[in-house]
Amino acid sequence: MRRILVTGALGQIGSELVVALRERYGSEAVIASDIRLPPLDTLHPGERFEFLDSTNARQIQDIVRNGEVGTIYHLAALLSATSEEKPHVAWELNMGGLYKVLEVARQHDCKVFFPSSIGAFGPGTPKDNTPQDTIQRPTTMYGVTKVAGELLCDYYNRRFGVDTRGMRFPGLISYAAPPGGGTTDYAVAIFYDAIRYGRYTCFLKPDTRLDMMYMPDAIAALISLMEADPAKLIHRNSFNVTAMNFTPSELANEIRKHIPSFEIRYEIDAVRQGIADSWPNSLDCSAARAEWGFAPRYSLSAMVEDMLTKLRTRIS
Ligand code: SER
Repeated sequence: MRRILVTGALGQIGSELVVALRERYGSEAVIASDIRLPPLDTLHPGERFEFLDSTNARQIQDIVRNGEVGTIYHLAALLSATSEEKPHVAWELNMGGLYKVLEVARQHDCKVFFPSSIGAFGPGTPKDNTPQDTIQRPTTMYGVTKVAGELLCDYYNRRFGVDTRGMRFPGLISYAAPPGGGTTDYAVAIFYDAIRYGRYTCFLKPDTRLDMMYMPDAIAALISLMEADPAKLIHRNSFNVTAMNFTPSELANEIRKHIPSFEIRYEIDAVRQGIADSWPNSLDCSAARAEWGFAPRYSLSAMVEDMLTKLRTRIS
């Protein structure tokens, strides 16, 4: 059996993906890795965790060789707002890490998943129903690393036959990991503050429309794409995916159906507003549906209901 390596396993996607992969393929089949160490009480017998700085090719190589790894979910990266604060670190980690992962994958014949983003689009991209293949001229360092990452993954597939696959994720909403440096993170933070304080101060304008997806749909999509028949994949890097789009004001109205006294105020952060304004309002996901059966389940109302229930239990 060739194992699965997840980089950035303690991050937003990794925290839930590792659990899902262990359930599906068995604990023994999955190696979680991160540059941070997990809290000791979260380590269970039989579950493997490795310290990994994914800009260090030797460390990646050692884990892949010793762990007999056949698939890498390369999730270690900075999100959009943090990348704007530290563009040089974003380049080093988001690009440098991916390049090293692809090189190791080429040498050891591994399959690679690369998470791209709505951030791979820019102000010149058609905003509504954004096509799968269209103008990509992002104006953020995050976006630059995502477009370049998509191209690099396609290059490794065409030139060296590495089985690379990717998705352009919208804002991901989850209760497992706290919000961490993304522009779409308001849609996660709002739930914590709604439950704890009954009010939230939003850093985006009330009418900023962005694509979003609930984490269970993202995890299901990841597994579907990686299990898809390669002969059916025309696009590979990277598929548009989304499940819903809404504005902060629409999300607040939906939360009010459960917490009628909930209040939202706005203190606009110019950097994150600028990033959000450069991204699409809604993506066309027809290629993902046609090529590997993408079919998200959660709508805005179902997501809000589930988030409030799960997060209440978690917080209490
Ligand atoms: N959620 C990401 C961010 O806001 C977008 O891919 O940075």
